[in-house]
Formats: sequence, C-alpha cells, structure tokens
Amino acid sequence: MDQPVKWVRASSLDELPRDGSGRAFDVDGLDIAVFNWDQSYFALENYCPHLGFPLTEGIVEEGAVICGWHGWRVRLDDGGCRGKTLTARRYACEVRGDALWVEVPEKVQSTGSLNTES
Ligand code: FES
Repeated sequence: MDQPVKWVRASSLDELPRDGSGRAFDVDGLDIAVFNWDQSYFALENYCPHLGFPLTEGIVEEGAVICGWHGWRVRLDDGGCRGKTLTARRYACEVRGDALWVEVPEKVQSTGSLNTES
C-alpha cells in the first residue's frame, strides 16, 4: 500500500540554489537537499546513503552530487549511487508560483541511517 503524501512549500524561488549547487531546507521536519542542475530542481534526503554525510556538502557534477566524505556519486534524478545498491530517498518537487513545493510523507518518519556497505 502506498504511503499517504502531502505537498509542502519548501522555499521561495529566491532562496533556491543556483545552477550546479545544492541547499538544505527543513521541509515539515525533514532535512531535504534541493539541487539545481541544468535548469531543473531535484530534492533528495540530505543524507549520503553511505554514512550519512550531508549531500549539500558535496559537489554537483553531470547530474549527480559527489559526496564530500568518501566520494560516492548520488544521481539527482533517482538517488541511485554508481556501483552501489543503496539509494538516497528522492522526493518529487515542483515550482508553483513563486515557491518550490516538495512531496513528503503525510506522517514524517526519521530519515538518515547508517549502513555497512563500503
Ligand atoms: S558518507 Fe558519503 S561517501 Fe561516505
């Protein structure tokens, strides 16, 4: 069964990151990383799937963010990591009027977890 979701206003357009960068927002209690790549916005949980380093501390390159800790490449469009089975959670997002909205679970659960994949 699908989890109930809701759309939450994440930020005004002026606060959004410039092309090729990311910025963190608290969206209904979730730490969400919003990236701007090639004139599109992408929203991921702000935790690297490897060991939880903030993805917004990484470098955006070729549609992925390269984690600043151990260099995992996390794709912005689906949260997948090159050569790894783990993924970052991706959230739908869209510009509505003068703001970016993000689709989040109706009931917020904690995000970020540790794993043992190296
Ligand atoms: S915490 Fe991101 S690559 Fe290790």
